[in-house]
Parts: sequence; structure tokens; C-alpha cells
Amino acid sequence: MMSPEAGLFFGLWLRKPLSIASVYPSSRFLADAFAGLTDLRRPGPVLELGAGTGSLTEGLLRAGCRPERLIILEREPALARVLRRSFRTVTVLEADATKIAGALAAHGVTRLATVVSSLPIKWFSLEAQRAVVLPCLDLLGPAGKFLQVTNGFVSPVATHSLGIAGMEARRVWRNLPPAQIWAYTRPASTVSRGS
Ligand SMILES: C[S@@+](CC[C@H](N)C(=O)[O-])C[C@H]1O[C@@H](n2cnc3c(N)ncnc32)[C@H](O)[C@@H]1O
Repeated sequence: MMSPEAGLFFGLWLRKPLSIASVYPSSRFLADAFAGLTDLRRPGPVLELGAGTGSLTEGLLRAGCRPERLIILEREPALARVLRRSFRTVTVLEADATKIAGALAAHGVTRLATVVSSLPIKWFSLEAQRAVVLPCLDLLGPAGKFLQVTNGFVSPVATHSLGIAGMEARRVWRNLPPAQIWAYTRPASTVSRGS
């Protein structure tokens, strides 16, 4: 039987398929693969974009990320309520990811350790991708990674147009549908901040 959170997620998907973008929340296997790619030794908060019901959040916590270090963002008010209830000491931002620069500045965030995204970013316009990815890469600094899940076997982010580098970092078959995690970085010559 479906959990109430999975039922809410499914109901939202029926109403907004392109925004929710997935029938089911991510599997534990995908969450653990994401967490395994994050470097928690880097300083700064860990940012998650498109947190949904918190499947990937749980993976980060299982991997040892302190809840106080986590900032998770979700646009759907009903899902943000679930996240606040489930993760009481995690910072939950109810906001549009394309406004991430302002949202982080308002919280005094000046650097990020890592970014985990399950936004349906391949459906975003180029300008929206730019508004999400570039401010995050600025705050990640050199060697910081913006991790993005997809299931299309090609980069979901327009790397060439944004002037960034990207590579597939992991495939996870035990997820519905099977998923790939891409890692995006700024080419060294364009990095403007120290890490
Ligand atoms: C594929 S679901 C992933 C949910 C969850 N992280 C998981 O892995 O199960 C994508 C999530 O991104 C959210 N989302 C879509 N567009 C967004 C935007 N522009 N800003 C913030 N959240 C957005 C949706 O509401 C949805 O919860």
C-alpha cells in the first residue's frame, strides 16, 4: 500500500506531470548513490533542490550529513509542509529554484559544500537552467559539484550554452525509472571564487 507521502506525490504528478516529473519518489538506492557522490568534508551547507517528499534528503542524512547543515528547497506548498514535518531541524525553503540566488543570499549563505538536484531541469528553459545552475556553481567554488538526476541518457543541462562541464557520474538501475546522476562543474579557467 502507498504511504500518505507517496499518495500525495502521485496526486500532484497527476495534476502537474511536467513539474513533478516522476510518478514515484526516488528509491533508496538512488538516494544512497547521490549521497555517495557528495563530499561532506567540503565546508558549507548542503543544498538539495526539488526535495519532494524527502527521499534524497533521507539518503544524505543516512550518509552522515547533519540535519542543521541541510538546506532543502521545494516549490509545492503541500510537499514543503511534509518536509517541515518530517525534518524538523532541516532548513526548508518553499521557493522556486530559479530564484535560488536571492533565497540563499537572504539566508546569509556565502558558500556551498555540494548541491543535489532532482528538479525536472531538462524541461527548464535555458534562462531558467542558467538561473539555477550558475549561482550554485559560484557558491560551490573550484571542484564543487552540482549533482543532477535524469533518466534520458544525455545531459539534462545545456552545458555548452552555459559554459560549464558535465559528465555522467553514476547509473542507478534500481529506481523507477532507472536513473543517471550527472555532475556539473565550472571549467577551471572560469572559476571566480576560492574554495
Ligand atoms: C522528480 S521530483 C523529485 C522529488 C524528490 N526529490 C525525489 O527524489 O523523490 C521533482 C521535484 O521538483 C519540484 N520542482 C519542480 N520544479 C521546481 C522549481 N522550479 N522550483 C522548486 N521545486 C521544483 C517538484 O515539485 C518535485 O517535488
